[in-house]
Amino acid sequence: MEQYIDDESIFDDAFNSNIKFEKCNDTEVKVNGKNIPEAVKQFVSIKNIPKILLSNIRKKKFMRPTPIQKYSIPIILSGRDLMATAQTGSGKTIAFILPIIQKLIIDPVTLVKDRNHCEPQVIIIVPTRELAVQMKMTITKLTRNTGIFSFACYGGIKATYQKSQILRGCHILVATIGRLNSFVQNGVITFSSVRILVLNEVDRMLYDDMKSKIDCILNHFTMPPVMNRQTIMMSATLPDKTQHLAQFYLKKDYLLLAVGIVSSTSINIKQTFYLVNKFEKRDMLTTILKKDSAGTIVFVKRKWVVDYLVTYLNKNNIPSVALHGNHLQHHRKIALSNFHDKKTNVLVATDLASRGLDFKCVNHVINFDMPPRIEEYVQRIGRKGKPETQAISTSFFDPNEDHSLVVPLIKTLALANQEIPNWLVKLRHDANYNDANDVLDQFVGLYISHKPILDNSNDDYEE
Ligand SMILES: Nc1ncnc2c1ncn2[C@@H]1O[C@H](COP(=O)(O)OP(=O)(O)OP(=O)(O)O)[C@@H](O)[C@H]1O
Ligand SMILES: [Mg+2]
Repeated sequence: MEQYIDDESIFDDAFNSNIKFEKCNDTEVKVNGKNIPEAVKQFVSIKNIPKILLSNIRKKKFMRPTPIQKYSIPIILSGRDLMATAQTGSGKTIAFILPIIQKLIIDPVTLVKDRNHCEPQVIIIVPTRELAVQMKMTITKLTRNTGIFSFACYGGIKATYQKSQILRGCHILVATIGRLNSFVQNGVITFSSVRILVLNEVDRMLYDDMKSKIDCILNHFTMPPVMNRQTIMMSATLPDKTQHLAQFYLKKDYLLLAVGIVSSTSINIKQTFYLVNKFEKRDMLTTILKKDSAGTIVFVKRKWVVDYLVTYLNKNNIPSVALHGNHLQHHRKIALSNFHDKKTNVLVATDLASRGLDFKCVNHVINFDMPPRIEEYVQRIGRKGKPETQAISTSFFDPNEDHSLVVPLIKTLALANQEIPNWLVKLRHDANYNDANDVLDQFVGLYISHKPILDNSNDDYEE
């Protein structure tokens, strides 16, 4: 009988984690569906968890599972399809990676590969290259000494190099959609061996133009049908429209797991707003950053404005780097690592940086331009660093541009116990927001619903 290390001994160990997650008791967790597997309380109590996996988790310095992990791990281990949502930074990555790795260890299937193609057993699709890299790093740590191979494929670097790596064999493939599609089209990757498919940031992946690209992958003739694969979907934001669409990709008995209020922001972020017009924004940003710029992400709508602002801020002695989709991948990587390593104070970015990226250094998120949709607002301000620390977000609200956000913002702020500016309330009263109110009630703050909603806004993603 193997002796496993219990969670308390991890706590007593040299690997002492200081990360505490917000209190979230079981009443804040909802699981919709039948025959729900029982949640686990500790990593050590996960049924049949391999010793090596427990040891790798220990090295990650995790004391105990977060609420989403407690529920999703047994669900995924039981083979059920899952659509899950929990706040930004609540540990959703481990929530699906850990049980996937456990399944590959406990129930191994020979990897199919030859000189021309490889058949990954797990496909994880993510919206951005940077997120693919981050996720691959987490998988690498958890698969150490397990004999499980993983690889991240994404655009912006040479396909020939990636091809040679993939052909060495890979159980878990993390991919952005464009590069994945091109490897599928030239036959380097086929899906015949896929056991598990993950759509991370699912509301983004099924939104607008991305959905047709996802459909292209899922309808590929080698992709096992819904009944013959396990499908997992995760996001911190899960509007009704996504919940509705996602059902077509899941088995009928899938489980819907929601920790906390769907699409809500953390109460640990103080959200401040300024009513501005577009000509005031630059000077206001400079004034704020001159006071304190350390660990700040500034979100901007247009790529050329990102570059312009970075040049301007650097000229004004505020060290800044830019991140957007027109830059070479090499430059994107350097910009991000300079910001991560605190070599530069400010990252100015488009929504390319709004999802999934785990920035330990971020204290302040500034919305120089508001995003087009409330989900991106929730995701952006969720880029703050450690979950237990208080962070701030500052948003420049231009009523000429951002009027569609008035109603969802008021509700989002109310749910997070934030002060709602009087001018925002006035804007709501001044306009006729009756229609928007109807939409809003199904849009944010409610737990789970299957009714589709109207959502015609555009956004500015590069990939
Ligand atoms: N059980 C745990 N104990 C302590 N820290 C953890 C635990 N699980 C995950 N973390 C850490 O929490 C941070 C956030 O995790 P992760 O990126 O998975 O969050 P997320 O829910 O996917 O957020 P987002 O919605 O922004 O993508 C990471 O630094 C991760 O290493
Ligand atoms: Mg995530």
